[in-house]
Amino acid sequence: MRKAVLVTGGAGYIGSHTCLALIREGWRPVVMDTFANSSPEAISRLRSLTGSDIPVCQVDIRDTEACRQVMSQYHCQSVIHFAGLKAVGESQAHALEYYDVNVNGTHSLLKAMTCEGVRHIIFSSSATVYGEPTKLPISEDHPLDPTNPYGRTKLTAEKLIEDVASSSADICFGILRYFNPVGADQSGKIGEDPKGQPNNLMPFIAQVAVGRREYLTVYGDDYSTKDGTGVRDYIHVSDLAIAHLRALEKLVGFDENFVVNLGTGRGYSVLEVLDAFSSVSGRSIPHRFNERRVGDVATVYADPTLARNLLGWKAELGLKEMCRDHWLWQEANPLGYDGEH
Ligand code: NAD
Ligand code: WQD
Repeated sequence: MRKAVLVTGGAGYIGSHTCLALIREGWRPVVMDTFANSSPEAISRLRSLTGSDIPVCQVDIRDTEACRQVMSQYHCQSVIHFAGLKAVGESQAHALEYYDVNVNGTHSLLKAMTCEGVRHIIFSSSATVYGEPTKLPISEDHPLDPTNPYGRTKLTAEKLIEDVASSSADICFGILRYFNPVGADQSGKIGEDPKGQPNNLMPFIAQVAVGRREYLTVYGDDYSTKDGTGVRDYIHVSDLAIAHLRALEKLVGFDENFVVNLGTGRGYSVLEVLDAFSSVSGRSIPHRFNERRVGDVATVYADPTLARNLLGWKAELGLKEMCRDHWLWQEANPLGYDGEH
């Protein structure tokens, strides 16, 4: 019998890619999602890609009783917790909602796990918990000082998980701090489908390339970087998905808590990403320079050593593959899953 894993937010961008990787390696994902920022079509695509009948429960993680019921009905033995709100700007305007979903939602899930005897949780955290880098590359012992409400909800959820695990509750955790996830599965069938105007660089570039938007605004050309534009550690979502499998195996196999960065260890500037995307897509991508975006920093990239040593994982795919696969998805699905944005 395949082991059932509850995947909260499993219809979303990273969750759907992780479900695919889970099925390919013999696990049985059970998706829990409200579809607040995703489409049921992602699950239909996953079903047709894998031939697997993925159970889906339209349940809010804040509903503890409903979470318990799902865990019990499907005999879930572990949880990968992606569900949450993730837009930095929106988190400033809607802080209450962000704390409610990201912190209270995590609390509710932990409570349900404790009641149902589900012991292992992998949590989606973010490099945003580090705030402004005081040293590069960023290793896990870098000071934690998020500069926006979204980042603070992620850090609070981390602390909540750690506190619950060190209390009498029988919980073990793996906290994964993602850098900048991009790209899509090589099938071109699933990918990132932001609602409204994309906040992040790669989906914005992809929408310009496909003709949905006129031009990219490049935020700042006066950073002290190789070409004046911001540098980030982009990581292919398929590499990221595989890291979740290694993390789950580690957690279930050894009952050891851990916090690890997931990045490549290499930074690329906005202009380098633009060039790479233009070259793989064969499309010109008009862009205009503007002021720096408030809250942005010049350079961020991970020290990925711990992930390699602890999980035996490292990112395999480079910038070219990230752009190629993001484009495959965008070109085949110019208007996303539901074709009506
Ligand atoms: P996403 O928005 O595509 O996926 C999140 C999913 O959670 C969506 O399907 C959404 O419908 C669902 N959801 C939201 N609120 C819910 C609720 N109350 N109950 C149940 N489901 C709910 O985002 P993603 O990019 O796949 O990110 C997944 C996780 O990784 C998030 O927790 C995010 O904070 C974190 N993360 C993302 C990035 C990134 O750049 N994409 C970087 C670092 C960390
Ligand atoms: C990358 C670079 C921008 C858009 C954010 C969150 C972080 C994490 C990942 C969730 C920067 C530049 C961007 C555009 C641009 N998410 N840019 N024009 O800001 O590193 O991280 O997503 O956890 O928490 O903060 O990613 O993709 O928004 O920006 O010039 O239209 O691209 O200034 O240098 P960021 P990003």
